[in-house]
Amino acid sequence: RQSKRKLTVCVIGSGGVGKSSLTLRYINGHFPEFYDPTIEESYITQIEYGFHFHEVEVIDTAGQEEFLLFRDSSMAQGDAFLLVFAIDSVSSWVHLKELRSKIVREKDDDVSIPMVVVGNKRDLEEDRQIPLEDVVEYCQRIKCPLIETSAKTSLNVTESFRMLMEQVEEH
Ligand code: GTP
Ligand code: MG
Repeated sequence: RQSKRKLTVCVIGSGGVGKSSLTLRYINGHFPEFYDPTIEESYITQIEYGFHFHEVEVIDTAGQEEFLLFRDSSMAQGDAFLLVFAIDSVSSWVHLKELRSKIVREKDDDVSIPMVVVGNKRDLEEDRQIPLEDVVEYCQRIKCPLIETSAKTSLNVTESFRMLMEQVEEH
């Protein structure tokens, strides 16, 4: 259970997987077509879980190498994580698994830390590089829910945050 009043959600993953796009879609319904690498952005919003609205800070972290120090400090503050990869990027999938291990280490080996694995860019199904079965198998092994999203079409964007809040409630 969270003792802090404010919950911090970190959106984390490789550069260009769509973290900012998902976050902006969720926060204000906007989809930026152009790519503007993030250093760090955060948004305060209200999310309903446990039958109440709670104040949630959503931190949209950096994926590009040069900004990783910012990301690591956000990771330390995070109570819950959307672990994002893009279904058309093998390197982002490899990186997601490394990030998940890093988060668990950061949280004193608490494997129950609230997380959801997000396979973004679902609209690019024809360019899929990571078979869904591989992702399902990994998520079952680490006991983490999985959702496929498209920030472009809005598919499952709200649902991904809702799933994460379910994890928070159960934590
Ligand atoms: P960093 O901030 O550098 O870590 O990148 P990011 O993960 O925030 O990626 P960002 O949201 O900036 O998106 C990168 C590019 O992918 C942009 O051109 C987006 O328009 C595009 N993009 C993001 N989500 C989707 C999606 O669901 N589908 C498609 N087709 N493109 C997407
Ligand atoms: Mg970004």
